Amino acid sequence: MIARRLPAAGLEELRRDFDVDEGDLSADRAKLAERVRGASALVADPTVPVDAELLDAAGPSLRVVANFAVGYDNVDRDACRARGVTVTNTPDVLTNATAELAVTLMLAAARRLGEAERLLRAGRWQGWDPGELLGRELSHSVIGIVGLGRIGERVAELLRGFAPEGEDSPRMLYTARSERPRAEERLGLRRLALEDLVAQADVVTLHVPLGPETHHLVDASLLGRFKPGSILVNTSRGGLVDTQALVGALRSGRLAAAALDVFEHEPSVEPELLALENVVLVPHIGSATGRARDAMARLVAQNVKAVLAGAEPPTPVVR
Ligand code: GLV
Repeated sequence: MIARRLPAAGLEELRRDFDVDEGDLSADRAKLAERVRGASALVADPTVPVDAELLDAAGPSLRVVANFAVGYDNVDRDACRARGVTVTNTPDVLTNATAELAVTLMLAAARRLGEAERLLRAGRWQGWDPGELLGRELSHSVIGIVGLGRIGERVAELLRGFAPEGEDSPRMLYTARSERPRAEERLGLRRLALEDLVAQADVVTLHVPLGPETHHLVDASLLGRFKPGSILVNTSRGGLVDTQALVGALRSGRLAAAALDVFEHEPSVEPELLALENVVLVPHIGSATGRARDAMARLVAQNVKAVLAGAEPPTPVVR
């Protein structure tokens, strides 16, 4: 049972071996509960909460929840574990696409791209102006990477080309639970505590998963420690940031800008954010490349096939 949609690359593979019920983008809760009854596999995505109620609606036939995403905060893992249901996700295949979007957003916010384009499209451009729309250069910025997992590390790799003239690497800081000496040496990274990183970084980019420990990681108190005039980029999950506190920091000028791909209450976006000039807002498109989405769909199919064949899935989260 595919809760919403799965690209053909994975859908066709599943259809070769199984009866597949593909849904639509609405993912109506009551309909889902009806459709999932008796399913062996449930393909979910970040918009589909997989909780005890949905698992119980599926019943004892359910063997696997295959999430079409690397993040799995939408899945109640304890409830799956308690029912002997395997959970899988789609890591690696979307790392580059998401890291490229993070770099895109850094540049867009640093060079005020949204604001500049809106000005031009509104017919408000008066001609080249030496003092207009001045931004910041990434090469002359300290970048703070919060979370050095696959995506965070790929962001650091992509940023290597942004070393200031005459230097070997850009100035990059990171947070991680443990020290990463090889990455530090290879990429010229320095590990700091989060409070120190935000005080020193000109651009802070979030790459930690959402969970009870990271909910509102960026709150009013942390924002108060950010370097004045810095930029926040979020391509992970909206829940990492207290949006009202962020709006306050953007309004007061504590933060120069933010660039967000994810929001606390998707698909709705806080009206205060929409009203601000100094934010770049995109609709959760981190993994939205044909290459990444096809590979994610194939990985979903491989995970489902493995579990239903009694084998170890390629990318398990809960076994
Ligand atoms: C998308 O949000 C993902 O977690 O892959």
